[in-house]
Amino acid sequence: MAILADPERTQKSGEGLMETLTSPERMRALAREFRAQGERIGYVPTMGALHEGHLSLIRRSKQLATRTVVSLFVNPTQFGPSEDFRKYPRNPERDAELARLAGADVLYAPRVGDVYPPGYRTYVAVEGLGTTLEGASRPGHFRGVATVVVKLLNRVAPHVALFGQKDAQQAILIKKLVRDLEVDLEIEVCPTVREEDGLAMSSRNAYLTPEQRRAAPVLYRALKRAESAVVREKERRAERIVDLIRETVAAEPYVSLDYAEVVDAGTLAPLERIEGSVLIPIAARVGATRLIDNVILKVEE
Ligand code: PAJ
Repeated sequence: MAILADPERTQKSGEGLMETLTSPERMRALAREFRAQGERIGYVPTMGALHEGHLSLIRRSKQLATRTVVSLFVNPTQFGPSEDFRKYPRNPERDAELARLAGADVLYAPRVGDVYPPGYRTYVAVEGLGTTLEGASRPGHFRGVATVVVKLLNRVAPHVALFGQKDAQQAILIKKLVRDLEVDLEIEVCPTVREEDGLAMSSRNAYLTPEQRRAAPVLYRALKRAESAVVREKERRAERIVDLIRETVAAEPYVSLDYAEVVDAGTLAPLERIEGSVLIPIAARVGATRLIDNVILKVEE
């Protein structure tokens, strides 16, 4: 590591040194060096504006691996033309400090021009999984996610990559991509970290006004109501669950539901009956801000 470390950019981390890299070549060289030394690489891709959700992934990586790489890259190809790429919250100094305190060994923050140089032409599409739910509301979003994740994985060469359940469709799509493209690594999906009132942590929560912030936990309440109907009242009709979610969200004037669905947690296929491993993803607008959340239920009988 010594030969690759740039002393000016190496900061003391919770358990050693955190190195900040922007060069894709240096990232690959460092990953090779780690592997040559027999280290196990854990990897947490992020778009920054780090919060406890991201930090929980870093901490989990430290349990699963001997070296943890965090990437910080606001990926332009996963934002639609009218979306928030330009105003997405960016605070690289704060992110570096939080990643270091959580125990990251390497922060990889490539530049847009290095990831997508002029003439860039190759994109990855996971058919079916990328065009429903979030993909239907955000055309091209998952093509951008799948593409950048493959590119980042190729640089970081991790043994295990960690993703949050908060973005359930993304996690399912990446697992499928890794299987289909025979990428040699494990995917670990970690639980959603929430604020005390149940709101799922998200970098986009920073956009909410105080009134909107007070209204936003209705999404969690709607999911809890759905969960309770399935678990306690043994409701098995998907339609009924969607109605319950709609009713709950409709009572909150600041929040307008985009979708609520009941799908198979492996394939995202819509379900009529609640049975097996079931994902209930929801998306809503709170003012101009789009928030998503979900719950997974395992229903045996
Ligand atoms: P980002 O939104 O920064 O999220 C990075 C990782 O943190 C994702 O795996 C996401 O699911 C996880 N995460 C976000 N909020 C969480 C929460 N409240 N609890 C647990 N985990 C949470 O997702 C992306 O970036 C991008 O699409 C990326 C995969 C980096 C590709 O650009």
